[in-house]
Order: sequence, then structure tokens, then C-alpha cells
Amino acid sequence: MELLIVKDYDELSRKAAEIVADELKSNPRIVLGLPTGATPLGMYRELIEMYKEGKISFKDVITFNLDEYEGLSKEDPNSYYRFMNDNFFSHIDIKEENTNIPDGMAVDIERECREYEDKIAKSGGIDFMILGIGNNGHIGFNEPAEFFPGFTHRVKLAESTIQANSRFFDSIDHVPRYALTMGIKSIMHSKKIMLLASGKAKAEAIKGALQGPITPKLPASVLQLHRHLIVIVDEEAGALLE
Ligand code: GLP
Repeated sequence: MELLIVKDYDELSRKAAEIVADELKSNPRIVLGLPTGATPLGMYRELIEMYKEGKISFKDVITFNLDEYEGLSKEDPNSYYRFMNDNFFSHIDIKEENTNIPDGMAVDIERECREYEDKIAKSGGIDFMILGIGNNGHIGFNEPAEFFPGFTHRVKLAESTIQANSRFFDSIDHVPRYALTMGIKSIMHSKKIMLLASGKAKAEAIKGALQGPITPKLPASVLQLHRHLIVIVDEEAGALLE
């Protein structure tokens, strides 16, 4: 594992974007796994800047997002589809058909999950997966559980996640209770993984994920088993690390 502890959120965003840009330059047809949430926003902004300055291009890049809320349409301001378009895709030269996000409105959710996984496989698998982490140690929407879930699946969100994510919604009642997410196997099959965490609310999850026992009760802890893991945390998120 490569651990980088940086000063603050701005430095984390710059460093993360630099690493993605280097990966992209060495493989212009890279398959990226992408997260949503507040954490990667700064990294997306930096990447957009680099694109505008002509330093990088996404024209041959393929992306797979980690997750989507069940029941939110593509137009819904809280859907991850909208999030990705508003905050990243609409500002760069990526081809729309090369961006993939699970369909939260699919009538047959199981089929949607199976097809999503097939698409990842057909694209050759994920080369570089970028992850945030939930306060409870979730990655994607893989919540603390008794076992590690395998491939893309439907999940019931933990109360603490509904609470944490309610900050983006008008009211907590509007936060969907279910989501579609890549599973732990989908994530662990990626060739490289980069985990990002910022702020003191993440300090305990980061401590457990990197230095605690490997357990599905803290899903991110499984990342300790990955052979090519880069972790970038700011000082607050890394405060409890030894
Ligand atoms: C959501 C997403 C995760 C993300 C997490 C942390 O629940 N499904 O992929 O990592 O929130 O979000 P934030 O970066 O806003 O703290």
C-alpha cells in the first residue's frame, strides 16, 4: 500500500488528479471506476482544468460509476447520473456512450446488475478504481455486513448512510432507502485502486480500514488485501493512523 498524507482537501484534490492524469497519459484508453460524494469533487475540478489547458483528453476513456440510488431518474438532481454529468462529464471530451452508471430506474434490478457486471467484463475490467469512504467504512454502497458482497447488487442503505447523505436532499424522507452498487469483488478485481478521504469525520473509518482487522463490518478494510492500493488522506482524516 502506498499511503500519502497531505495537508488539506485542496492538496488531496490536486494530488489525486495528478495521479489520474498520469495513469491516463500512460493509457489513453483507460477504464476508470468513479465515485460520487463530496470527496472527489475537487479532483474532478482539477481534472477539468487540466483538460481545458489541453494537458489531458478523455476521448477514449471508458468509465464505470460505483453506484446509483434506486428510484431516482437521470433528471433527478440527486441522482448520481446528474451528479456525474453536472460535475464532470459535461465539462470534458468523454463520449457519452463510454460513461456507465447503473440505472436506478431499471424495472428488473437483478438483470440491470448482471448486465452492468457483464459490461465491465467486456470492457476488459477496471484499470483504475477511485473510491471515497463512508463514515461507517462503506465503499460504493457496500455497507457494513456479515459478509463481503460479490458483484453488482441491490443494497439496503444503512441508517447512518441515509443520515449522512441527507445533507444533499430537501429532507431525510427523500433519501432513497435502496441503491445499486458494484460489489466488493467488482471493486477488488480492479487493477489499481485509489482511496480518498478528507476531514475528521473519516478518521475512524480510515484507521479501521488501513490498520484494523479485515472484516465486512468495515467494508473498506478489505482493501488491505489489494496488491496495488494508493491511499490519499488529508491530515484530519489521517489523524488516528499510527
Ligand atoms: C456515498 C457514496 C460513496 C462515497 C460516500 C462518501 O454514500 N455512495 O461512494 O464514498 O458517500 O461520501 P462523501 O465523499 O460525500 O463523504
